Amino acid sequence: MSGQKTALITGISGQDGSYLAELLLGKGYEVHGIIRRSSSINTSRLDDIYQDPHASHRRLFLHYGDTTDASMLANIVRETQPDEVYNLAAQSHVKVSFEIPDYTGDVTGLGTIRLLEAIRAAGISTRFYQASTSELYGSTPPPQSETTPFHPRSPYGVAKIYSYWATVNYREAYGLHASNGILFNHESPRRGETFVTRKITRAVARIVAGLQDKLYMGNIDAVRDWGYAKEYVEGMWLMAQQDEPDDYVLATGEGATVRQFLEASFSHVGLEWEKYVEHDSRYERPSEVDALIGDPAKAKEKLGWVAKTHWRDLAKLMVDADRKQLDDELSGRHVRADRG
Ligand code: NAP
Ligand code: GDD
Repeated sequence: MSGQKTALITGISGQDGSYLAELLLGKGYEVHGIIRRSSSINTSRLDDIYQDPHASHRRLFLHYGDTTDASMLANIVRETQPDEVYNLAAQSHVKVSFEIPDYTGDVTGLGTIRLLEAIRAAGISTRFYQASTSELYGSTPPPQSETTPFHPRSPYGVAKIYSYWATVNYREAYGLHASNGILFNHESPRRGETFVTRKITRAVARIVAGLQDKLYMGNIDAVRDWGYAKEYVEGMWLMAQQDEPDDYVLATGEGATVRQFLEASFSHVGLEWEKYVEHDSRYERPSEVDALIGDPAKAKEKLGWVAKTHWRDLAKLMVDADRKQLDDELSGRHVRADRG
């Protein structure tokens, strides 16, 4: 089909990658995604959009690769000639980054330079989106906007700051249409199970079903600005459609503590969270990010993007999805783990 755009997504098997792939396919794009070779199937979030490799009109193509593999990145960019590249691949868990800092720096930091160099080597005019993060602000107090100074507090945040500045540098040095989306926490029924919101909503579902009686948590005084991932990928796409590249905060503008998220999730099913939750210091970080609350004014003004779902509704939506998933599993119906 002439005029059809091509997009390349790293991290397509992750929460955001799967929503973004759906969005782009819905807009008529040909979508290429990089997945890692694994001994078990790691594409369950893509089940709904999977297309048989033998189908003649398929528009979704998955390629094995890794952000540590520069030659693979160079080959795929040259072969697919994407109009837009979305760099979502990362070792994205903050706590884990303290345990594997070297690996996190390689994948989450250097991986971005490898991809940017692959674009430069291909000599193509593409638009580049970098998955930057509110973790860059670290200990700088809220509200945080595009002009707030960075002070990261983890190897993950340090790796992401490298990628943030690499993106700015390739924009300035080579005129690349490269934008940073500085995204505050965004969640969904597809959220990885060890991030705090999903850990809570899954536990609520399991407690209601009688499969679990305790939930062990770390620092529940931390404040986060939680939005709905499905809405945030729309903001990523909007950044790539602008005439000029730039950096934008995507956030709801509303903060809540982990304690409040616990209360909202448990009370949604009529339970008191205090009866089930216990503290375990193993879930605390060597240095914590106490409070992240974004100021999304620029995204509203320039992109027309506004977060619709705030944390209370998100908690309910995720509890309902986890309860449904568990019911389906227990009744023997096969259902994808991340529907919603
Ligand atoms: P996610 O669910 O953890 O997905 C990460 C993706 O990166 C997965 O597809 C993963 O593959 C892939 N990946 C990991 N290591 C890789 C490697 N060495 N080579 C190639 N791919 C690799 O994360 P997410 O929540 O969707 O977030 C997407 C991006 O936005 C990440 O860069 C994250 O750091 C950033 N971000 C997220 C948030 C948030 O609140 N969700 C906020 C700000 C920024 P596997 O499936 O094989 O593990
Ligand atoms: N994961 C987890 N598990 N976090 C806990 C727990 C627990 O048992 N108990 C308390 N927390 C607190 C963490 O200390 C942190 O302050 C907060 O809950 C949120 O933790 P996560 O859900 O793991 O997310 P994050 O904020 O550290 O990082 C996420 O958001 C970033 C954007 O701000 C990740 O998605 C990053 O990739 C992303 O960049």
